[in-house]
Amino acid sequence: MHIQHNISLKPYNTFGIDVKAKQFVSVSSIEELKDIYTSSAYPKKFILGGGSNMLLTKDIDALVIHLNLKGKQIISQSDNEVLVQSLAGENWHEFVLWTLENDFGGLENLSLIPGNVGTSPIQNIGAYGVELKDVFHSCNALNLETLEVETFTKDTCEFDYRNSIFKQQAKGKYIITSVMFNLSAKEHILHTNYGAITSELQAMMVTEPTIQDVSKAVIAIRESKLPDPKEIGNSGSFFKNPIISKSEFLKFKKNFPDAPHYIVSDKEVKVPAGWLIEHAGFKGKTFDNYGVHKKQALVLVNYGGASGNDILELSQLIQETVARIFDINIEAEVNII
Ligand code: EPU
Repeated sequence: MHIQHNISLKPYNTFGIDVKAKQFVSVSSIEELKDIYTSSAYPKKFILGGGSNMLLTKDIDALVIHLNLKGKQIISQSDNEVLVQSLAGENWHEFVLWTLENDFGGLENLSLIPGNVGTSPIQNIGAYGVELKDVFHSCNALNLETLEVETFTKDTCEFDYRNSIFKQQAKGKYIITSVMFNLSAKEHILHTNYGAITSELQAMMVTEPTIQDVSKAVIAIRESKLPDPKEIGNSGSFFKNPIISKSEFLKFKKNFPDAPHYIVSDKEVKVPAGWLIEHAGFKGKTFDNYGVHKKQALVLVNYGGASGNDILELSQLIQETVARIFDINIEAEVNII
């Protein structure tokens, strides 16, 4: 294991924020992870996955552990069901492409999401009508107290919209080491109802779409709306779409009858934060070298050289303004460190 000192974390977070790690180590096996956790040499530790869902606002005064566990395999295959497993450090999109090359269905709508496989269950990633929980079988996670690997099922993960047990009671107590997915091997079920997918497939002149076509459509939609973190620093949706009570919604709707919304249950309604932020006047706003993305107001961007605090302050200004205008609180989706 090679411990480095005082290194920049800029290449390891998709916002491209230049903060330093006191120490840094890239870990490629569970044994190495256990060694680190049994040693008393590094009392403070910080886990880094794909770095795609965090805003770093300060230097990390700890040993930063970069999870680099690699490998993917087919565990079992029956007539129409296949179980595939990926280790935590695999890049999410490369893993999705590998499943599609094998003609396994289920992950196509989740194409091009930044980050690693190991962090995908933490916030139950989702896009274009599919959430990770829809194809999730189980995951293995190292219990940082006992140093035993435990298995979490779909039920014990307690998935919800952008949420799971790993953001709640299990937060900071486990490191997810691998994830298993339940995919279709033959009779794929396509999810193309999400408006933009159907029109994108039509534009592609595809009449009988395959899972690969759906993936291409999703990639085209994402590329047209969302900035590529390799070009412009960002962390995808900075905020969660707020879920409000029906009575709050009725009040809101009276003042803003044209706002899009989705019924969650007979008690709750989800309102797109992107719409709220756009109608609060922030879409495309640029402050020096950071701002709000021009094509999707949910995404905050670092055009180069911004600090984590610049972006944090902007996010707070957006929250305050949205609350003042709409009386709705929007919560950050990214982890603020
Ligand atoms: N909208 C606006 N202005 C904007 C953005 C959106 O008015 O600047 C409106 C749209 O017109 C639409 C509604 O808001 O009526 C929803 O927009 P969209 O379909 O683009 O999706 P979203 O709710 O803004 C969510 C996810 C995205 C995911 C898309 C597609 C969250 C927080 N975000 O965004 O996830 O790609 O749906 O399924 O749930 C991510 O998590 O990083 C991410 C990009």
